Amino acid sequence: MVKCAHYLNKENSVAITGIKGFNDILPGEVEKWQRIEATARRVFQIYGFSEIRVPIMEKTELFSRSIGDATDIVEKEMYSFTDKGENRVTLRPEGTAGVIRSYIEQKLHVLDPVTKLYYMGPMFRYERPQKGRYRQFHQIGAEVVGVTNPRIDAQVLIMLRHFFRDLGLTEPTLQINSLGCPECRPAYRAALKGYLEERRELLCDDCRRRMESNPLRALDCKVPGCGQATAEAPSVLDHLCRGCDDHFVAVRRHLDATETSYAVNHRMVRGLDYYTRTTFELVTGLLGSQSAVAAGGRYDGLIQELGGPNLPGIGFAMGVERVALLLSANASAKAPDLFIAAHGEAAGDEAFRLMTLLQGQGFRVELDYEGKSLKSQMRRADKLGARHTLIIGEDELANGRGMLKEMATGVQLELILEAALLAEALSSQPSP
Ligand code: HAM
Repeated sequence: MVKCAHYLNKENSVAITGIKGFNDILPGEVEKWQRIEATARRVFQIYGFSEIRVPIMEKTELFSRSIGDATDIVEKEMYSFTDKGENRVTLRPEGTAGVIRSYIEQKLHVLDPVTKLYYMGPMFRYERPQKGRYRQFHQIGAEVVGVTNPRIDAQVLIMLRHFFRDLGLTEPTLQINSLGCPECRPAYRAALKGYLEERRELLCDDCRRRMESNPLRALDCKVPGCGQATAEAPSVLDHLCRGCDDHFVAVRRHLDATETSYAVNHRMVRGLDYYTRTTFELVTGLLGSQSAVAAGGRYDGLIQELGGPNLPGIGFAMGVERVALLLSANASAKAPDLFIAAHGEAAGDEAFRLMTLLQGQGFRVELDYEGKSLKSQMRRADKLGARHTLIIGEDELANGRGMLKEMATGVQLELILEAALLAEALSSQPSP
């Protein structure tokens, strides 16, 4: 079947479709998102995080300086353009850079030496769309500025675990690594480069090209030849300086002490240049090649690099689409407490009046707006999964009484058509 982007309607006007890789989140799916967002807000607040909202567009330079010129994101994935004022601007490809820009600009360190922030919203990367990978996607992220102690690394990971546990997800699993610091990473880079140079012929064009600027990327290159060529590559963990090694040992000790399970993956490199020391990913086998559901790490040099004070930072972001894919569909729209089926114009008015009063009291009530047949109204009540139905016909209207039916049990109750009595009957059975 040929998939056509345009559909002709009867008047021959062409319907406009959305942009490739930009998705609509429809009712039925959006409830999962609301649950994810509500869980994040609740859990992050327990750990002392406050929400920050920053613009979705920043100066291009912010991202090239923080994420790094030699990364895939900056090299080829950013939505950048020149605005009408001749400014180079970019739709944010991630959240950390904007949050740190704001942190510095608004001098948040003056308010508190330790700042814990979280954010949620759309991000943009021009990647090849596939399941779990989109051009507009959504992140929920958190950042802590001002703490060097490895306890915060462990706490951020514990908070992430707490979040996934509260969503009822045992997947994904945690992998951690340390990427060292400006003191010890150059020696590791040199050792890795030497190793890669000896195997240059086996590497893909991208990895050969990146050998000078970013040799670590060869370790997570998906091309099979590169995987084989780097199988015996030196481990970053064997090249950590004393400070970085002590830090990583302490992070693992805190994770062990709090029974937070993890695996060390010394081949994990991140696609952004700002990381130092601890890095991590929460991975799942359930999403094909898009295995990282959340990822992050420490960025002790970034705040100074962006013109702020010399303060350490650590954080993560999760992909909301990927978390939603892991959730089963059971979080879908809440069924109505009551469906009122009415027969005739006057009964329709009475149904509308009762519905409005009950909704004012917090009940979810539905009815048919178009005066369809009773049979078709009952079909709709069924489709919506209404817990109760109330039929109002001419007779019911005349004697002021209606039959309330509990759908799960079939139990019927005759009652006076008064909102207060209806509310009482509906409340006697708590909403699921
Ligand atoms: P990242 O690894 O580039 O890190 O992205 C974090 C998460 O965003 C990924 O694990 C994935 O779940 C999701 N994600 C990324 N790209 C896409 C896409 N095209 N479609 C769908 N989901 C995607 C960062 O962005 C860092 N700012 C994280 C961080 C915060 N590090 C420190 N603080």
